[in-house]
Amino acid sequence: MNIFNNHTKLYTTAAIMYFVLTFFTAIKPALDNQQNNGPLPGTKPLSGDALAGKMVYIAEGCVACHTQQVRNVDMDKMFGTRPGIPSDYANIGRTSVWQNTATLMGTERTGPDLTDVGNRQPSKEWNLLHLYNPRSVVAQSIMPSYKWLFEIKENPSKNDVIVNVPAEFMHGKTGKVVATKKALQLVAYLQSLKQTPLPESIKPYEFLYKQEKKVTANAGASEEETVDGKALFTANCQSCHQANGEGLKGAFPSLKGSPIVLGDDLKLIVDIIMNGYDARPEFAVMTPVGTSMNFDEKQVAAIINYIKTSWGNDAKKTKADEVKEIIEFIKTNNPAK
Ligand code: HEC
Ligand code: HEC
Repeated sequence: MNIFNNHTKLYTTAAIMYFVLTFFTAIKPALDNQQNNGPLPGTKPLSGDALAGKMVYIAEGCVACHTQQVRNVDMDKMFGTRPGIPSDYANIGRTSVWQNTATLMGTERTGPDLTDVGNRQPSKEWNLLHLYNPRSVVAQSIMPSYKWLFEIKENPSKNDVIVNVPAEFMHGKTGKVVATKKALQLVAYLQSLKQTPLPESIKPYEFLYKQEKKVTANAGASEEETVDGKALFTANCQSCHQANGEGLKGAFPSLKGSPIVLGDDLKLIVDIIMNGYDARPEFAVMTPVGTSMNFDEKQVAAIINYIKTSWGNDAKKTKADEVKEIIEFIKTNNPAK
């Protein structure tokens, strides 16, 4: 054939075929995708510290162990309130002229998914301690420590953000651990990671392959007792107050022997769980765990009963009805919190 003897014709034909195929298999689908999946109402592009923190996240290679995608399978339920959709990533632009768009969806989940970690673990103090040495807050953690994001200073200045690292994790070093700008930016990024709720008109996809509920020995018991207070504590409180209830000196108070936990002021305990607590300078700030996690009265009662009767604590249990009244009272009388 003539075309195989004429290099101009051959290369022109090949080039045209290449561009036509590229247009239909790559460029057009991408444009369609972009048009059909705009960002959800209420999503804001990252800016300032959070955006700078994303660059630190990329530079430190956190994506090697952490995903940012909630799959539509039941086991992912703990990482978000709904499975992820393309719109969740629509707001992400190119990283720079030279760098492609980084969705950071990840492929490895050695650590938990971080799509919604800003709701699950919003505490700045906790995140800084965890980055300095994950073992200081999660004893079994295999996450590397990112010590180079911190400085040790003998005389920190007034504006320095000091991290109260327990003595055993200082490895003999003296001075105060101070968070660098990069550490603070990275934490701002982590705090910004929140799943955007779908508009009410859109029904979320369901989580598939639900695990059947195990019928336990107390199947006949009242519903209150079937809510597992210990499991709720492990998932929502243990990262700060620790499994042994003793907390961490200088950061999180002990619930073991705590006068508040053992005392009769149920309203205070419910308020702390729902709205957080920041009463004393020697401790970090407790985040509004109950409100972020949408606890109902049964869950709050189960957690309270667990902390009132664990680690040698031996206080009177409470009932969901009592807690319900208090939650309603707090909501109407203290809506600003
Ligand atoms: C070698 C794998 C690995 C790398 C790399 C890694 N992590 Fe982790 N990460 C883990 C594991 C495992 C856990 C669960 C145990 C824990 O909380 O420490 C975790 C937990 C976390 C949590 C708490 C999540 C939750 O649900 O409570 C955050 C936040 C986090 N990592 C952030 C980071 C950041 C930021 C980086 C990069 C600077 C990073 N991780 C790098 C393995 C890793
Ligand atoms: C991000 C870390 C963090 C998490 C998660 C957390 N707390 Fe706290 N909690 C604190 C801090 C910090 C204080 C002390 C605040 C202060 O006094 O300034 C506190 C105080 C308390 C107190 C008062 C105890 C005392 O003697 O002062 C109770 C009770 C309590 N938390 C219960 C809970 C329960 C129950 C959960 C889980 C639903 C929980 N906390 C989750 C950090 C945390």
